[in-house]
Amino acid sequence: MCGIVGYIGTKLATPILLDGMSKLEYRGYDSAGIAVYNEGHITVEKCVGRLDALREKVKGHMPEGTMGIGHTRWATHGRPSDRNSHPHTDDSGDFVVVHNGIIENYMKLKEELIAKGHKFVSETDTEVVAHLMADLYNGDFEATVKEVLKIIEGSYSLVFMSAKDPDKLICTKKDNPLVIGLGEGENFIASDIPAIIDHTRRTYIMSDGEIATVTKDSVWVQDIKGTPISKKVFEVNWNAEAAQKGGFEHFMLKEIYEQPKAMRDTMTGRIHGEEPIKFDELNWTPEEFAGISKIFIVACGTAYHAGLVGKYYLEKFARIPVEVDIASEFRYRDPLVDENSLLIVVSQSGETSDTLAALREAKRLGARTLAVTNVVGSSMAREADQVVYTYAGPEIAVASTKAYTTQLLVMFMLGVYVGTLRGTLDPKLAKELTLAAQDIPEQIHQTLENVDQIKVFATQYGSCEDAFFLGRSLDYAVALEGALKLKEISYIHAEAYAAGELKHGTLALIVEGVPVIVLATQSDVYAKTISNLKEVKARDAVVIAIAQEGDEEIGKEADHVIYIPKTNKFLAPLLAVLPLQLLSYYAALTRGCDVDKPRNLAKSVTVE
Ligand code: F6R
Repeated sequence: MCGIVGYIGTKLATPILLDGMSKLEYRGYDSAGIAVYNEGHITVEKCVGRLDALREKVKGHMPEGTMGIGHTRWATHGRPSDRNSHPHTDDSGDFVVVHNGIIENYMKLKEELIAKGHKFVSETDTEVVAHLMADLYNGDFEATVKEVLKIIEGSYSLVFMSAKDPDKLICTKKDNPLVIGLGEGENFIASDIPAIIDHTRRTYIMSDGEIATVTKDSVWVQDIKGTPISKKVFEVNWNAEAAQKGGFEHFMLKEIYEQPKAMRDTMTGRIHGEEPIKFDELNWTPEEFAGISKIFIVACGTAYHAGLVGKYYLEKFARIPVEVDIASEFRYRDPLVDENSLLIVVSQSGETSDTLAALREAKRLGARTLAVTNVVGSSMAREADQVVYTYAGPEIAVASTKAYTTQLLVMFMLGVYVGTLRGTLDPKLAKELTLAAQDIPEQIHQTLENVDQIKVFATQYGSCEDAFFLGRSLDYAVALEGALKLKEISYIHAEAYAAGELKHGTLALIVEGVPVIVLATQSDVYAKTISNLKEVKARDAVVIAIAQEGDEEIGKEADHVIYIPKTNKFLAPLLAVLPLQLLSYYAALTRGCDVDKPRNLAKSVTVE
């Protein structure tokens, strides 16, 4: 995710901004920029690439001034480029803004501003905010910020700077983090504590809707109506490394807990109330889709598991046959792909070599191609005909967690979208699903709170040699992901089976005390799953069941039950995987494994 740093004081701002931005580098970014005010003028320097490129750019003519804002960008709207880098300005250069998040209604606002004569230079959503400031400016900086906030929709942390009112920075947030660092004769703003920890440990943690006016000697916080808000000082007692992880012990855990936000970001602009799900970036028509006779989903590892869930959605809602392939198999099996095929590649990084090769092969064979990826401007995003982004933000731990759940969400939304387009999905069910999806971020939050029980299981069974995961239908796809997660970070041998398949061989391995995780969230196959559960119980396995709240029957059969909040069965994978992520994490911890960097594995596999 993007990083924000702001400084106002008596020292030169540029080195402080660059240093703060370097503390956010670990989060991943593709471009960087600063804006510094000096003697009536704001200088903006920005460029694509690493911070060193920006340092090189300002070498010898470093912007001088004691107030400035800086930004490291992780592209969401518009590919990584000099122009798309932040800070963004209005036409005059008097209003400057840095932004993390997504301005949902930016297209409409941009059109209106262009009609009024504003000249846009970037493809970003953020630039509208700077132009809006200029458009609405009434001589009062704070009042104008409030007017802008009434108009923009979406999620943001924003810092505003104005040459017209140069003794202050104004910042605010909604659904994105923002902190203010309190100094002596100087103050700091940052999206994350590591950026300011070298200067101060006294902070205000900003809440949604709060607007702070920050001068070098004061911080004044109010809400949009002007009601003053008195903030409590939060003393940061983490060391720099812990601060990078947001106080979590590992990036993996931090990323697990970032899932509610990742879900909200991925839904932004696509799901709204009961309205039909939309993908502005696709804008498919029923006619266009009529020519597609088959969909191929191709991916590796965890992304492949998301593809398996995607098959289910697309077949069920859109009634199109879907084949899911492991990319390294697809590319060498002479696939029967042609111009009537749609190939969807799913990839967090957008760079995985086998998946990229599969995409190229499908293009060569004349298929239409779509990339579902998390990295804007990645190879797959550039090479596929179309791209749908998952907005998980940077994923640093090798084991994929929030990237996976955002992939599931995108596949779900695509299924409902295409089903609606083709008229194969009952509109009533489409509405039901759309509404239920909007509860998922909060339900993820609730599920993740239920961690104590999982810690106990991890201690009890963390020393086991083998573990099995069973499920039917969507639960089977999630079981595969649960087993992969457990083996990759805890090194416990884990296997997932379609529950009905167990007795065709593997049941021979079920002996006394073996932990078997049974997923039972799917009502249509529930009774059959319970029969399979009984089969393993009869061999004295220890059964941990994952079930929906309200399911009392399962408590009579399983040794332990982990409940997830009640949801539509189609959405259950988004919740059922969470206890499996946590179980893997805590099992790995119990075994003393290097959770974020498991042995022999790399985050992005760019070799065959
Ligand atoms: C497992 C994991 C990997 C990746 C796989 C594909 O936790 O992260 O299995 O899912 O290497 O990577 P992407 O999604 O970048 O193509």
